[in-house]
Amino acid sequence: MALKAPRGTADLYGRQAQAWNSIRQAAFDFFAGYGYQPIETPTFEQLDVFVRGIGEATDVVGKEMFLVNDKNGLDRIAAGEKPGAGEQLALRPEMTAGVCRAVVEHNLVPPDATTVKLVYAATMYRHERPQKGRMREFHQIGAECLGAAEPSADAEVIVMLMRFFKGWGIPQQSMRLLINSMGDDACRPAFRDKVRSYILEHADSLCEDCVRRADTNPLRAFDCKNAACQAVLVDAPQITDELCEDCKTHYAAVKALLDGAGLTYEEDPRLVRGLDYYTRTVFEVQVTSGLGSQNAIGGGGRYDKLIQEFGGKPTPGLGFAVGFERMLMALEAVGTADFAVAAPEVFVAAVDEDMRFEAFGLAQKLRDAGVPVELDHQRRSLKSQFKQADKSGALFVVVVGPAELAEGKVTLRTLDTREEQQMTLSELIVCLKAFYRQ
Ligand code: HAM
Repeated sequence: MALKAPRGTADLYGRQAQAWNSIRQAAFDFFAGYGYQPIETPTFEQLDVFVRGIGEATDVVGKEMFLVNDKNGLDRIAAGEKPGAGEQLALRPEMTAGVCRAVVEHNLVPPDATTVKLVYAATMYRHERPQKGRMREFHQIGAECLGAAEPSADAEVIVMLMRFFKGWGIPQQSMRLLINSMGDDACRPAFRDKVRSYILEHADSLCEDCVRRADTNPLRAFDCKNAACQAVLVDAPQITDELCEDCKTHYAAVKALLDGAGLTYEEDPRLVRGLDYYTRTVFEVQVTSGLGSQNAIGGGGRYDKLIQEFGGKPTPGLGFAVGFERMLMALEAVGTADFAVAAPEVFVAAVDEDMRFEAFGLAQKLRDAGVPVELDHQRRSLKSQFKQADKSGALFVVVVGPAELAEGKVTLRTLDTREEQQMTLSELIVCLKAFYRQ
């Protein structure tokens, strides 16, 4: 049987691999302008990092985890026992929990520290039903800002994200920025209770999932895809009516800063997001065409309790993640996905077998001088090397032949004009470097 990539995964090669490289690099560069530094954490963590971080009652943890057992864990399972905490691992479904685990473990935000800002680009794993824009392995680019409680931090993160998308050519009018406040420990419990009561009062008209969640995670009902449920939930209590004074003030300040930055946004009191760590500000960026139902290209929010949950000192935090696959589809929809795979524009060709050694050495010298170079590794004839150069999109061929070499020279041939010029190695380097500076 032919071997295939697992369901819900995709190989990235050619244009798409180039796109991932370009977009992640651009994110690292762009976010660095706001003070973000790279972080990498393991692809798998102790299961508990996600259970405690994201919440057991979320779909991401309750239904979509890829579980991994280490050798000791497997031995225990074989013996009919439960794996120990450190033996039960899971592939990361998102990065925030792992980053916060690392922040606590390495004390990256000591009490007197200024804000710590971290950026990452990595693969995530969720055992979802695959469909357009929904994969089991996908790529995220994300940012986490730790130690900043002020509304200006929320606004900065949102503005940075929107400018990043805009910088890639997604026009403002093709995006919807949804924002909400989820409240905090002071006001959310009462709101949850109200939603729970509302669900139970309307149990006859709601789907089983919504009713079942009334006790575990009632706010998830707002994310139910069932149109009948949504119709019933239109009249459910809204968090914005229930916010305490502090949360109300915080939310108002975030909005004022977004207004000041000239950002258009929509307040969506039903935006609850699928992860339990959020407090106060949450946001999501959707695109209006090209993606179908999986139209969120990024989302995030504040998580002021998460570091504490992992045993750290109270430390506010917030961040977002962008889905690379969905962002690429959005770029394709607006026609700005220009990710041609570029081959070196200089090809070094050996006139005959004896010249291969010299051609190999010359290619290294040119590369050392910063000129991108390709050469033949298939023992092709000179004619085929020219053809290969042409096919690869090269602009120049540097021909290494015995007669010129005896005079310390090579021939530079410009492929489209067929012009040829003999020159020394130092002249060649000056000539090619001048071309690349144009
Ligand atoms: P999230 O909304 O679960 O948030 O994921 C962020 C983005 O990842 C989504 O907007 C979407 O573009 C992409 N995404 C999610 N699931 C899939 C999937 N199955 N296939 C393809 N793309 C997907 C988080 O992950 C949070 N950690 C964001 C965050 C950071 N909040 C605070 N800090």
